Amino acid sequence: YPFWAQQTAPETPREATGRIVCANCHLGAKPTDVEVPQSVLPDTVFKAVVKVPYDTSVQQVLGDGSKGGLNVGAVLMLPEGFKIAPEDRIPEEIKEETEGMYYQQYREDQDNVIIVGPLPGEEYQELVFPVLSPDPATDKTAHFGKYAVHVGGNRGRGQVYPTGQPSNNIVYKATAAGSITDIQELEYGGYEVTIQTVDGSEVVESIAAGAQPIVSIGDSVEVAQPLTTNPNVGGFGQADGEIVLQSSARITGLLGFFVLIILTQIFLVLKKKQVEKVQAAEMNF
Ligand code: HEM
Repeated sequence: YPFWAQQTAPETPREATGRIVCANCHLGAKPTDVEVPQSVLPDTVFKAVVKVPYDTSVQQVLGDGSKGGLNVGAVLMLPEGFKIAPEDRIPEEIKEETEGMYYQQYREDQDNVIIVGPLPGEEYQELVFPVLSPDPATDKTAHFGKYAVHVGGNRGRGQVYPTGQPSNNIVYKATAAGSITDIQELEYGGYEVTIQTVDGSEVVESIAAGAQPIVSIGDSVEVAQPLTTNPNVGGFGQADGEIVLQSSARITGLLGFFVLIILTQIFLVLKKKQVEKVQAAEMNF
């Protein structure tokens, strides 16, 4: 869950390598995408869309081994100065798209890093964030320019709890080499697989409800060899985007410059015509 990222990495959700920390526990990889405008003007509300697509017909293994739908969640890292727009600034059409969403700051003292979720995946495969751009005229820390945006998006349950304990949404692997002497199906769900090692000792691997054994009695296994199917159908993905905080004065200036160039070219052509006329007149004398 996004709040576990807050707990385990309170400074920032993005590691020095560029990896977003959700990936530490959500080990499956699935695509995630971000859509932001190419450029925005100061003090303007626009939307950033994080896409977390998946096949909604599939179900995942829940904590008790039963099957259920997937939930989605995301973290959005905006450039400094950008933040979630206040309620009264959000246009009607964006309000409709953000219904039911609850945006939370990753850190209390930083409003440009935002987390959402878990939300039911069937309704929220596109997570819309209403964003307000800063105004360099009033905010001295904001500057015009090009900035990076980072997102991480996840669907489905993770594989590791913050304690380091694996969830039941994982492939179980043999912790010892040997041969399998027993596979017990437990009445409350799950299995116990007994491995007899070469020195004759027995190792019992507990498999929580969810994954199905793929080994049978008599098989010999190596350390770290998978004992079960992989029940995980979800996954995490991250993406980067770019956004330009554009000054309207610069655009006006550029358009003015274009007008000047057009005028210069017209005058050059007119001058050429004039010279041609003089040359033609000189030839008649
Ligand atoms: C569950 C998102 C970080 C471990 C979930 C769910 C979402 C989610 C949406 C619910 C899935 C479902 O019910 O279908 C995220 C995002 C993260 C993040 C966006 C980063 C910002 C982490 C971290 C850990 C973690 C850092 C480990 C320390 C788990 C586990 C579950 C889970 C174990 C399953 C819980 C259960 O149902 O028993 N996460 N997560 N997640 N997450 Fe994360």
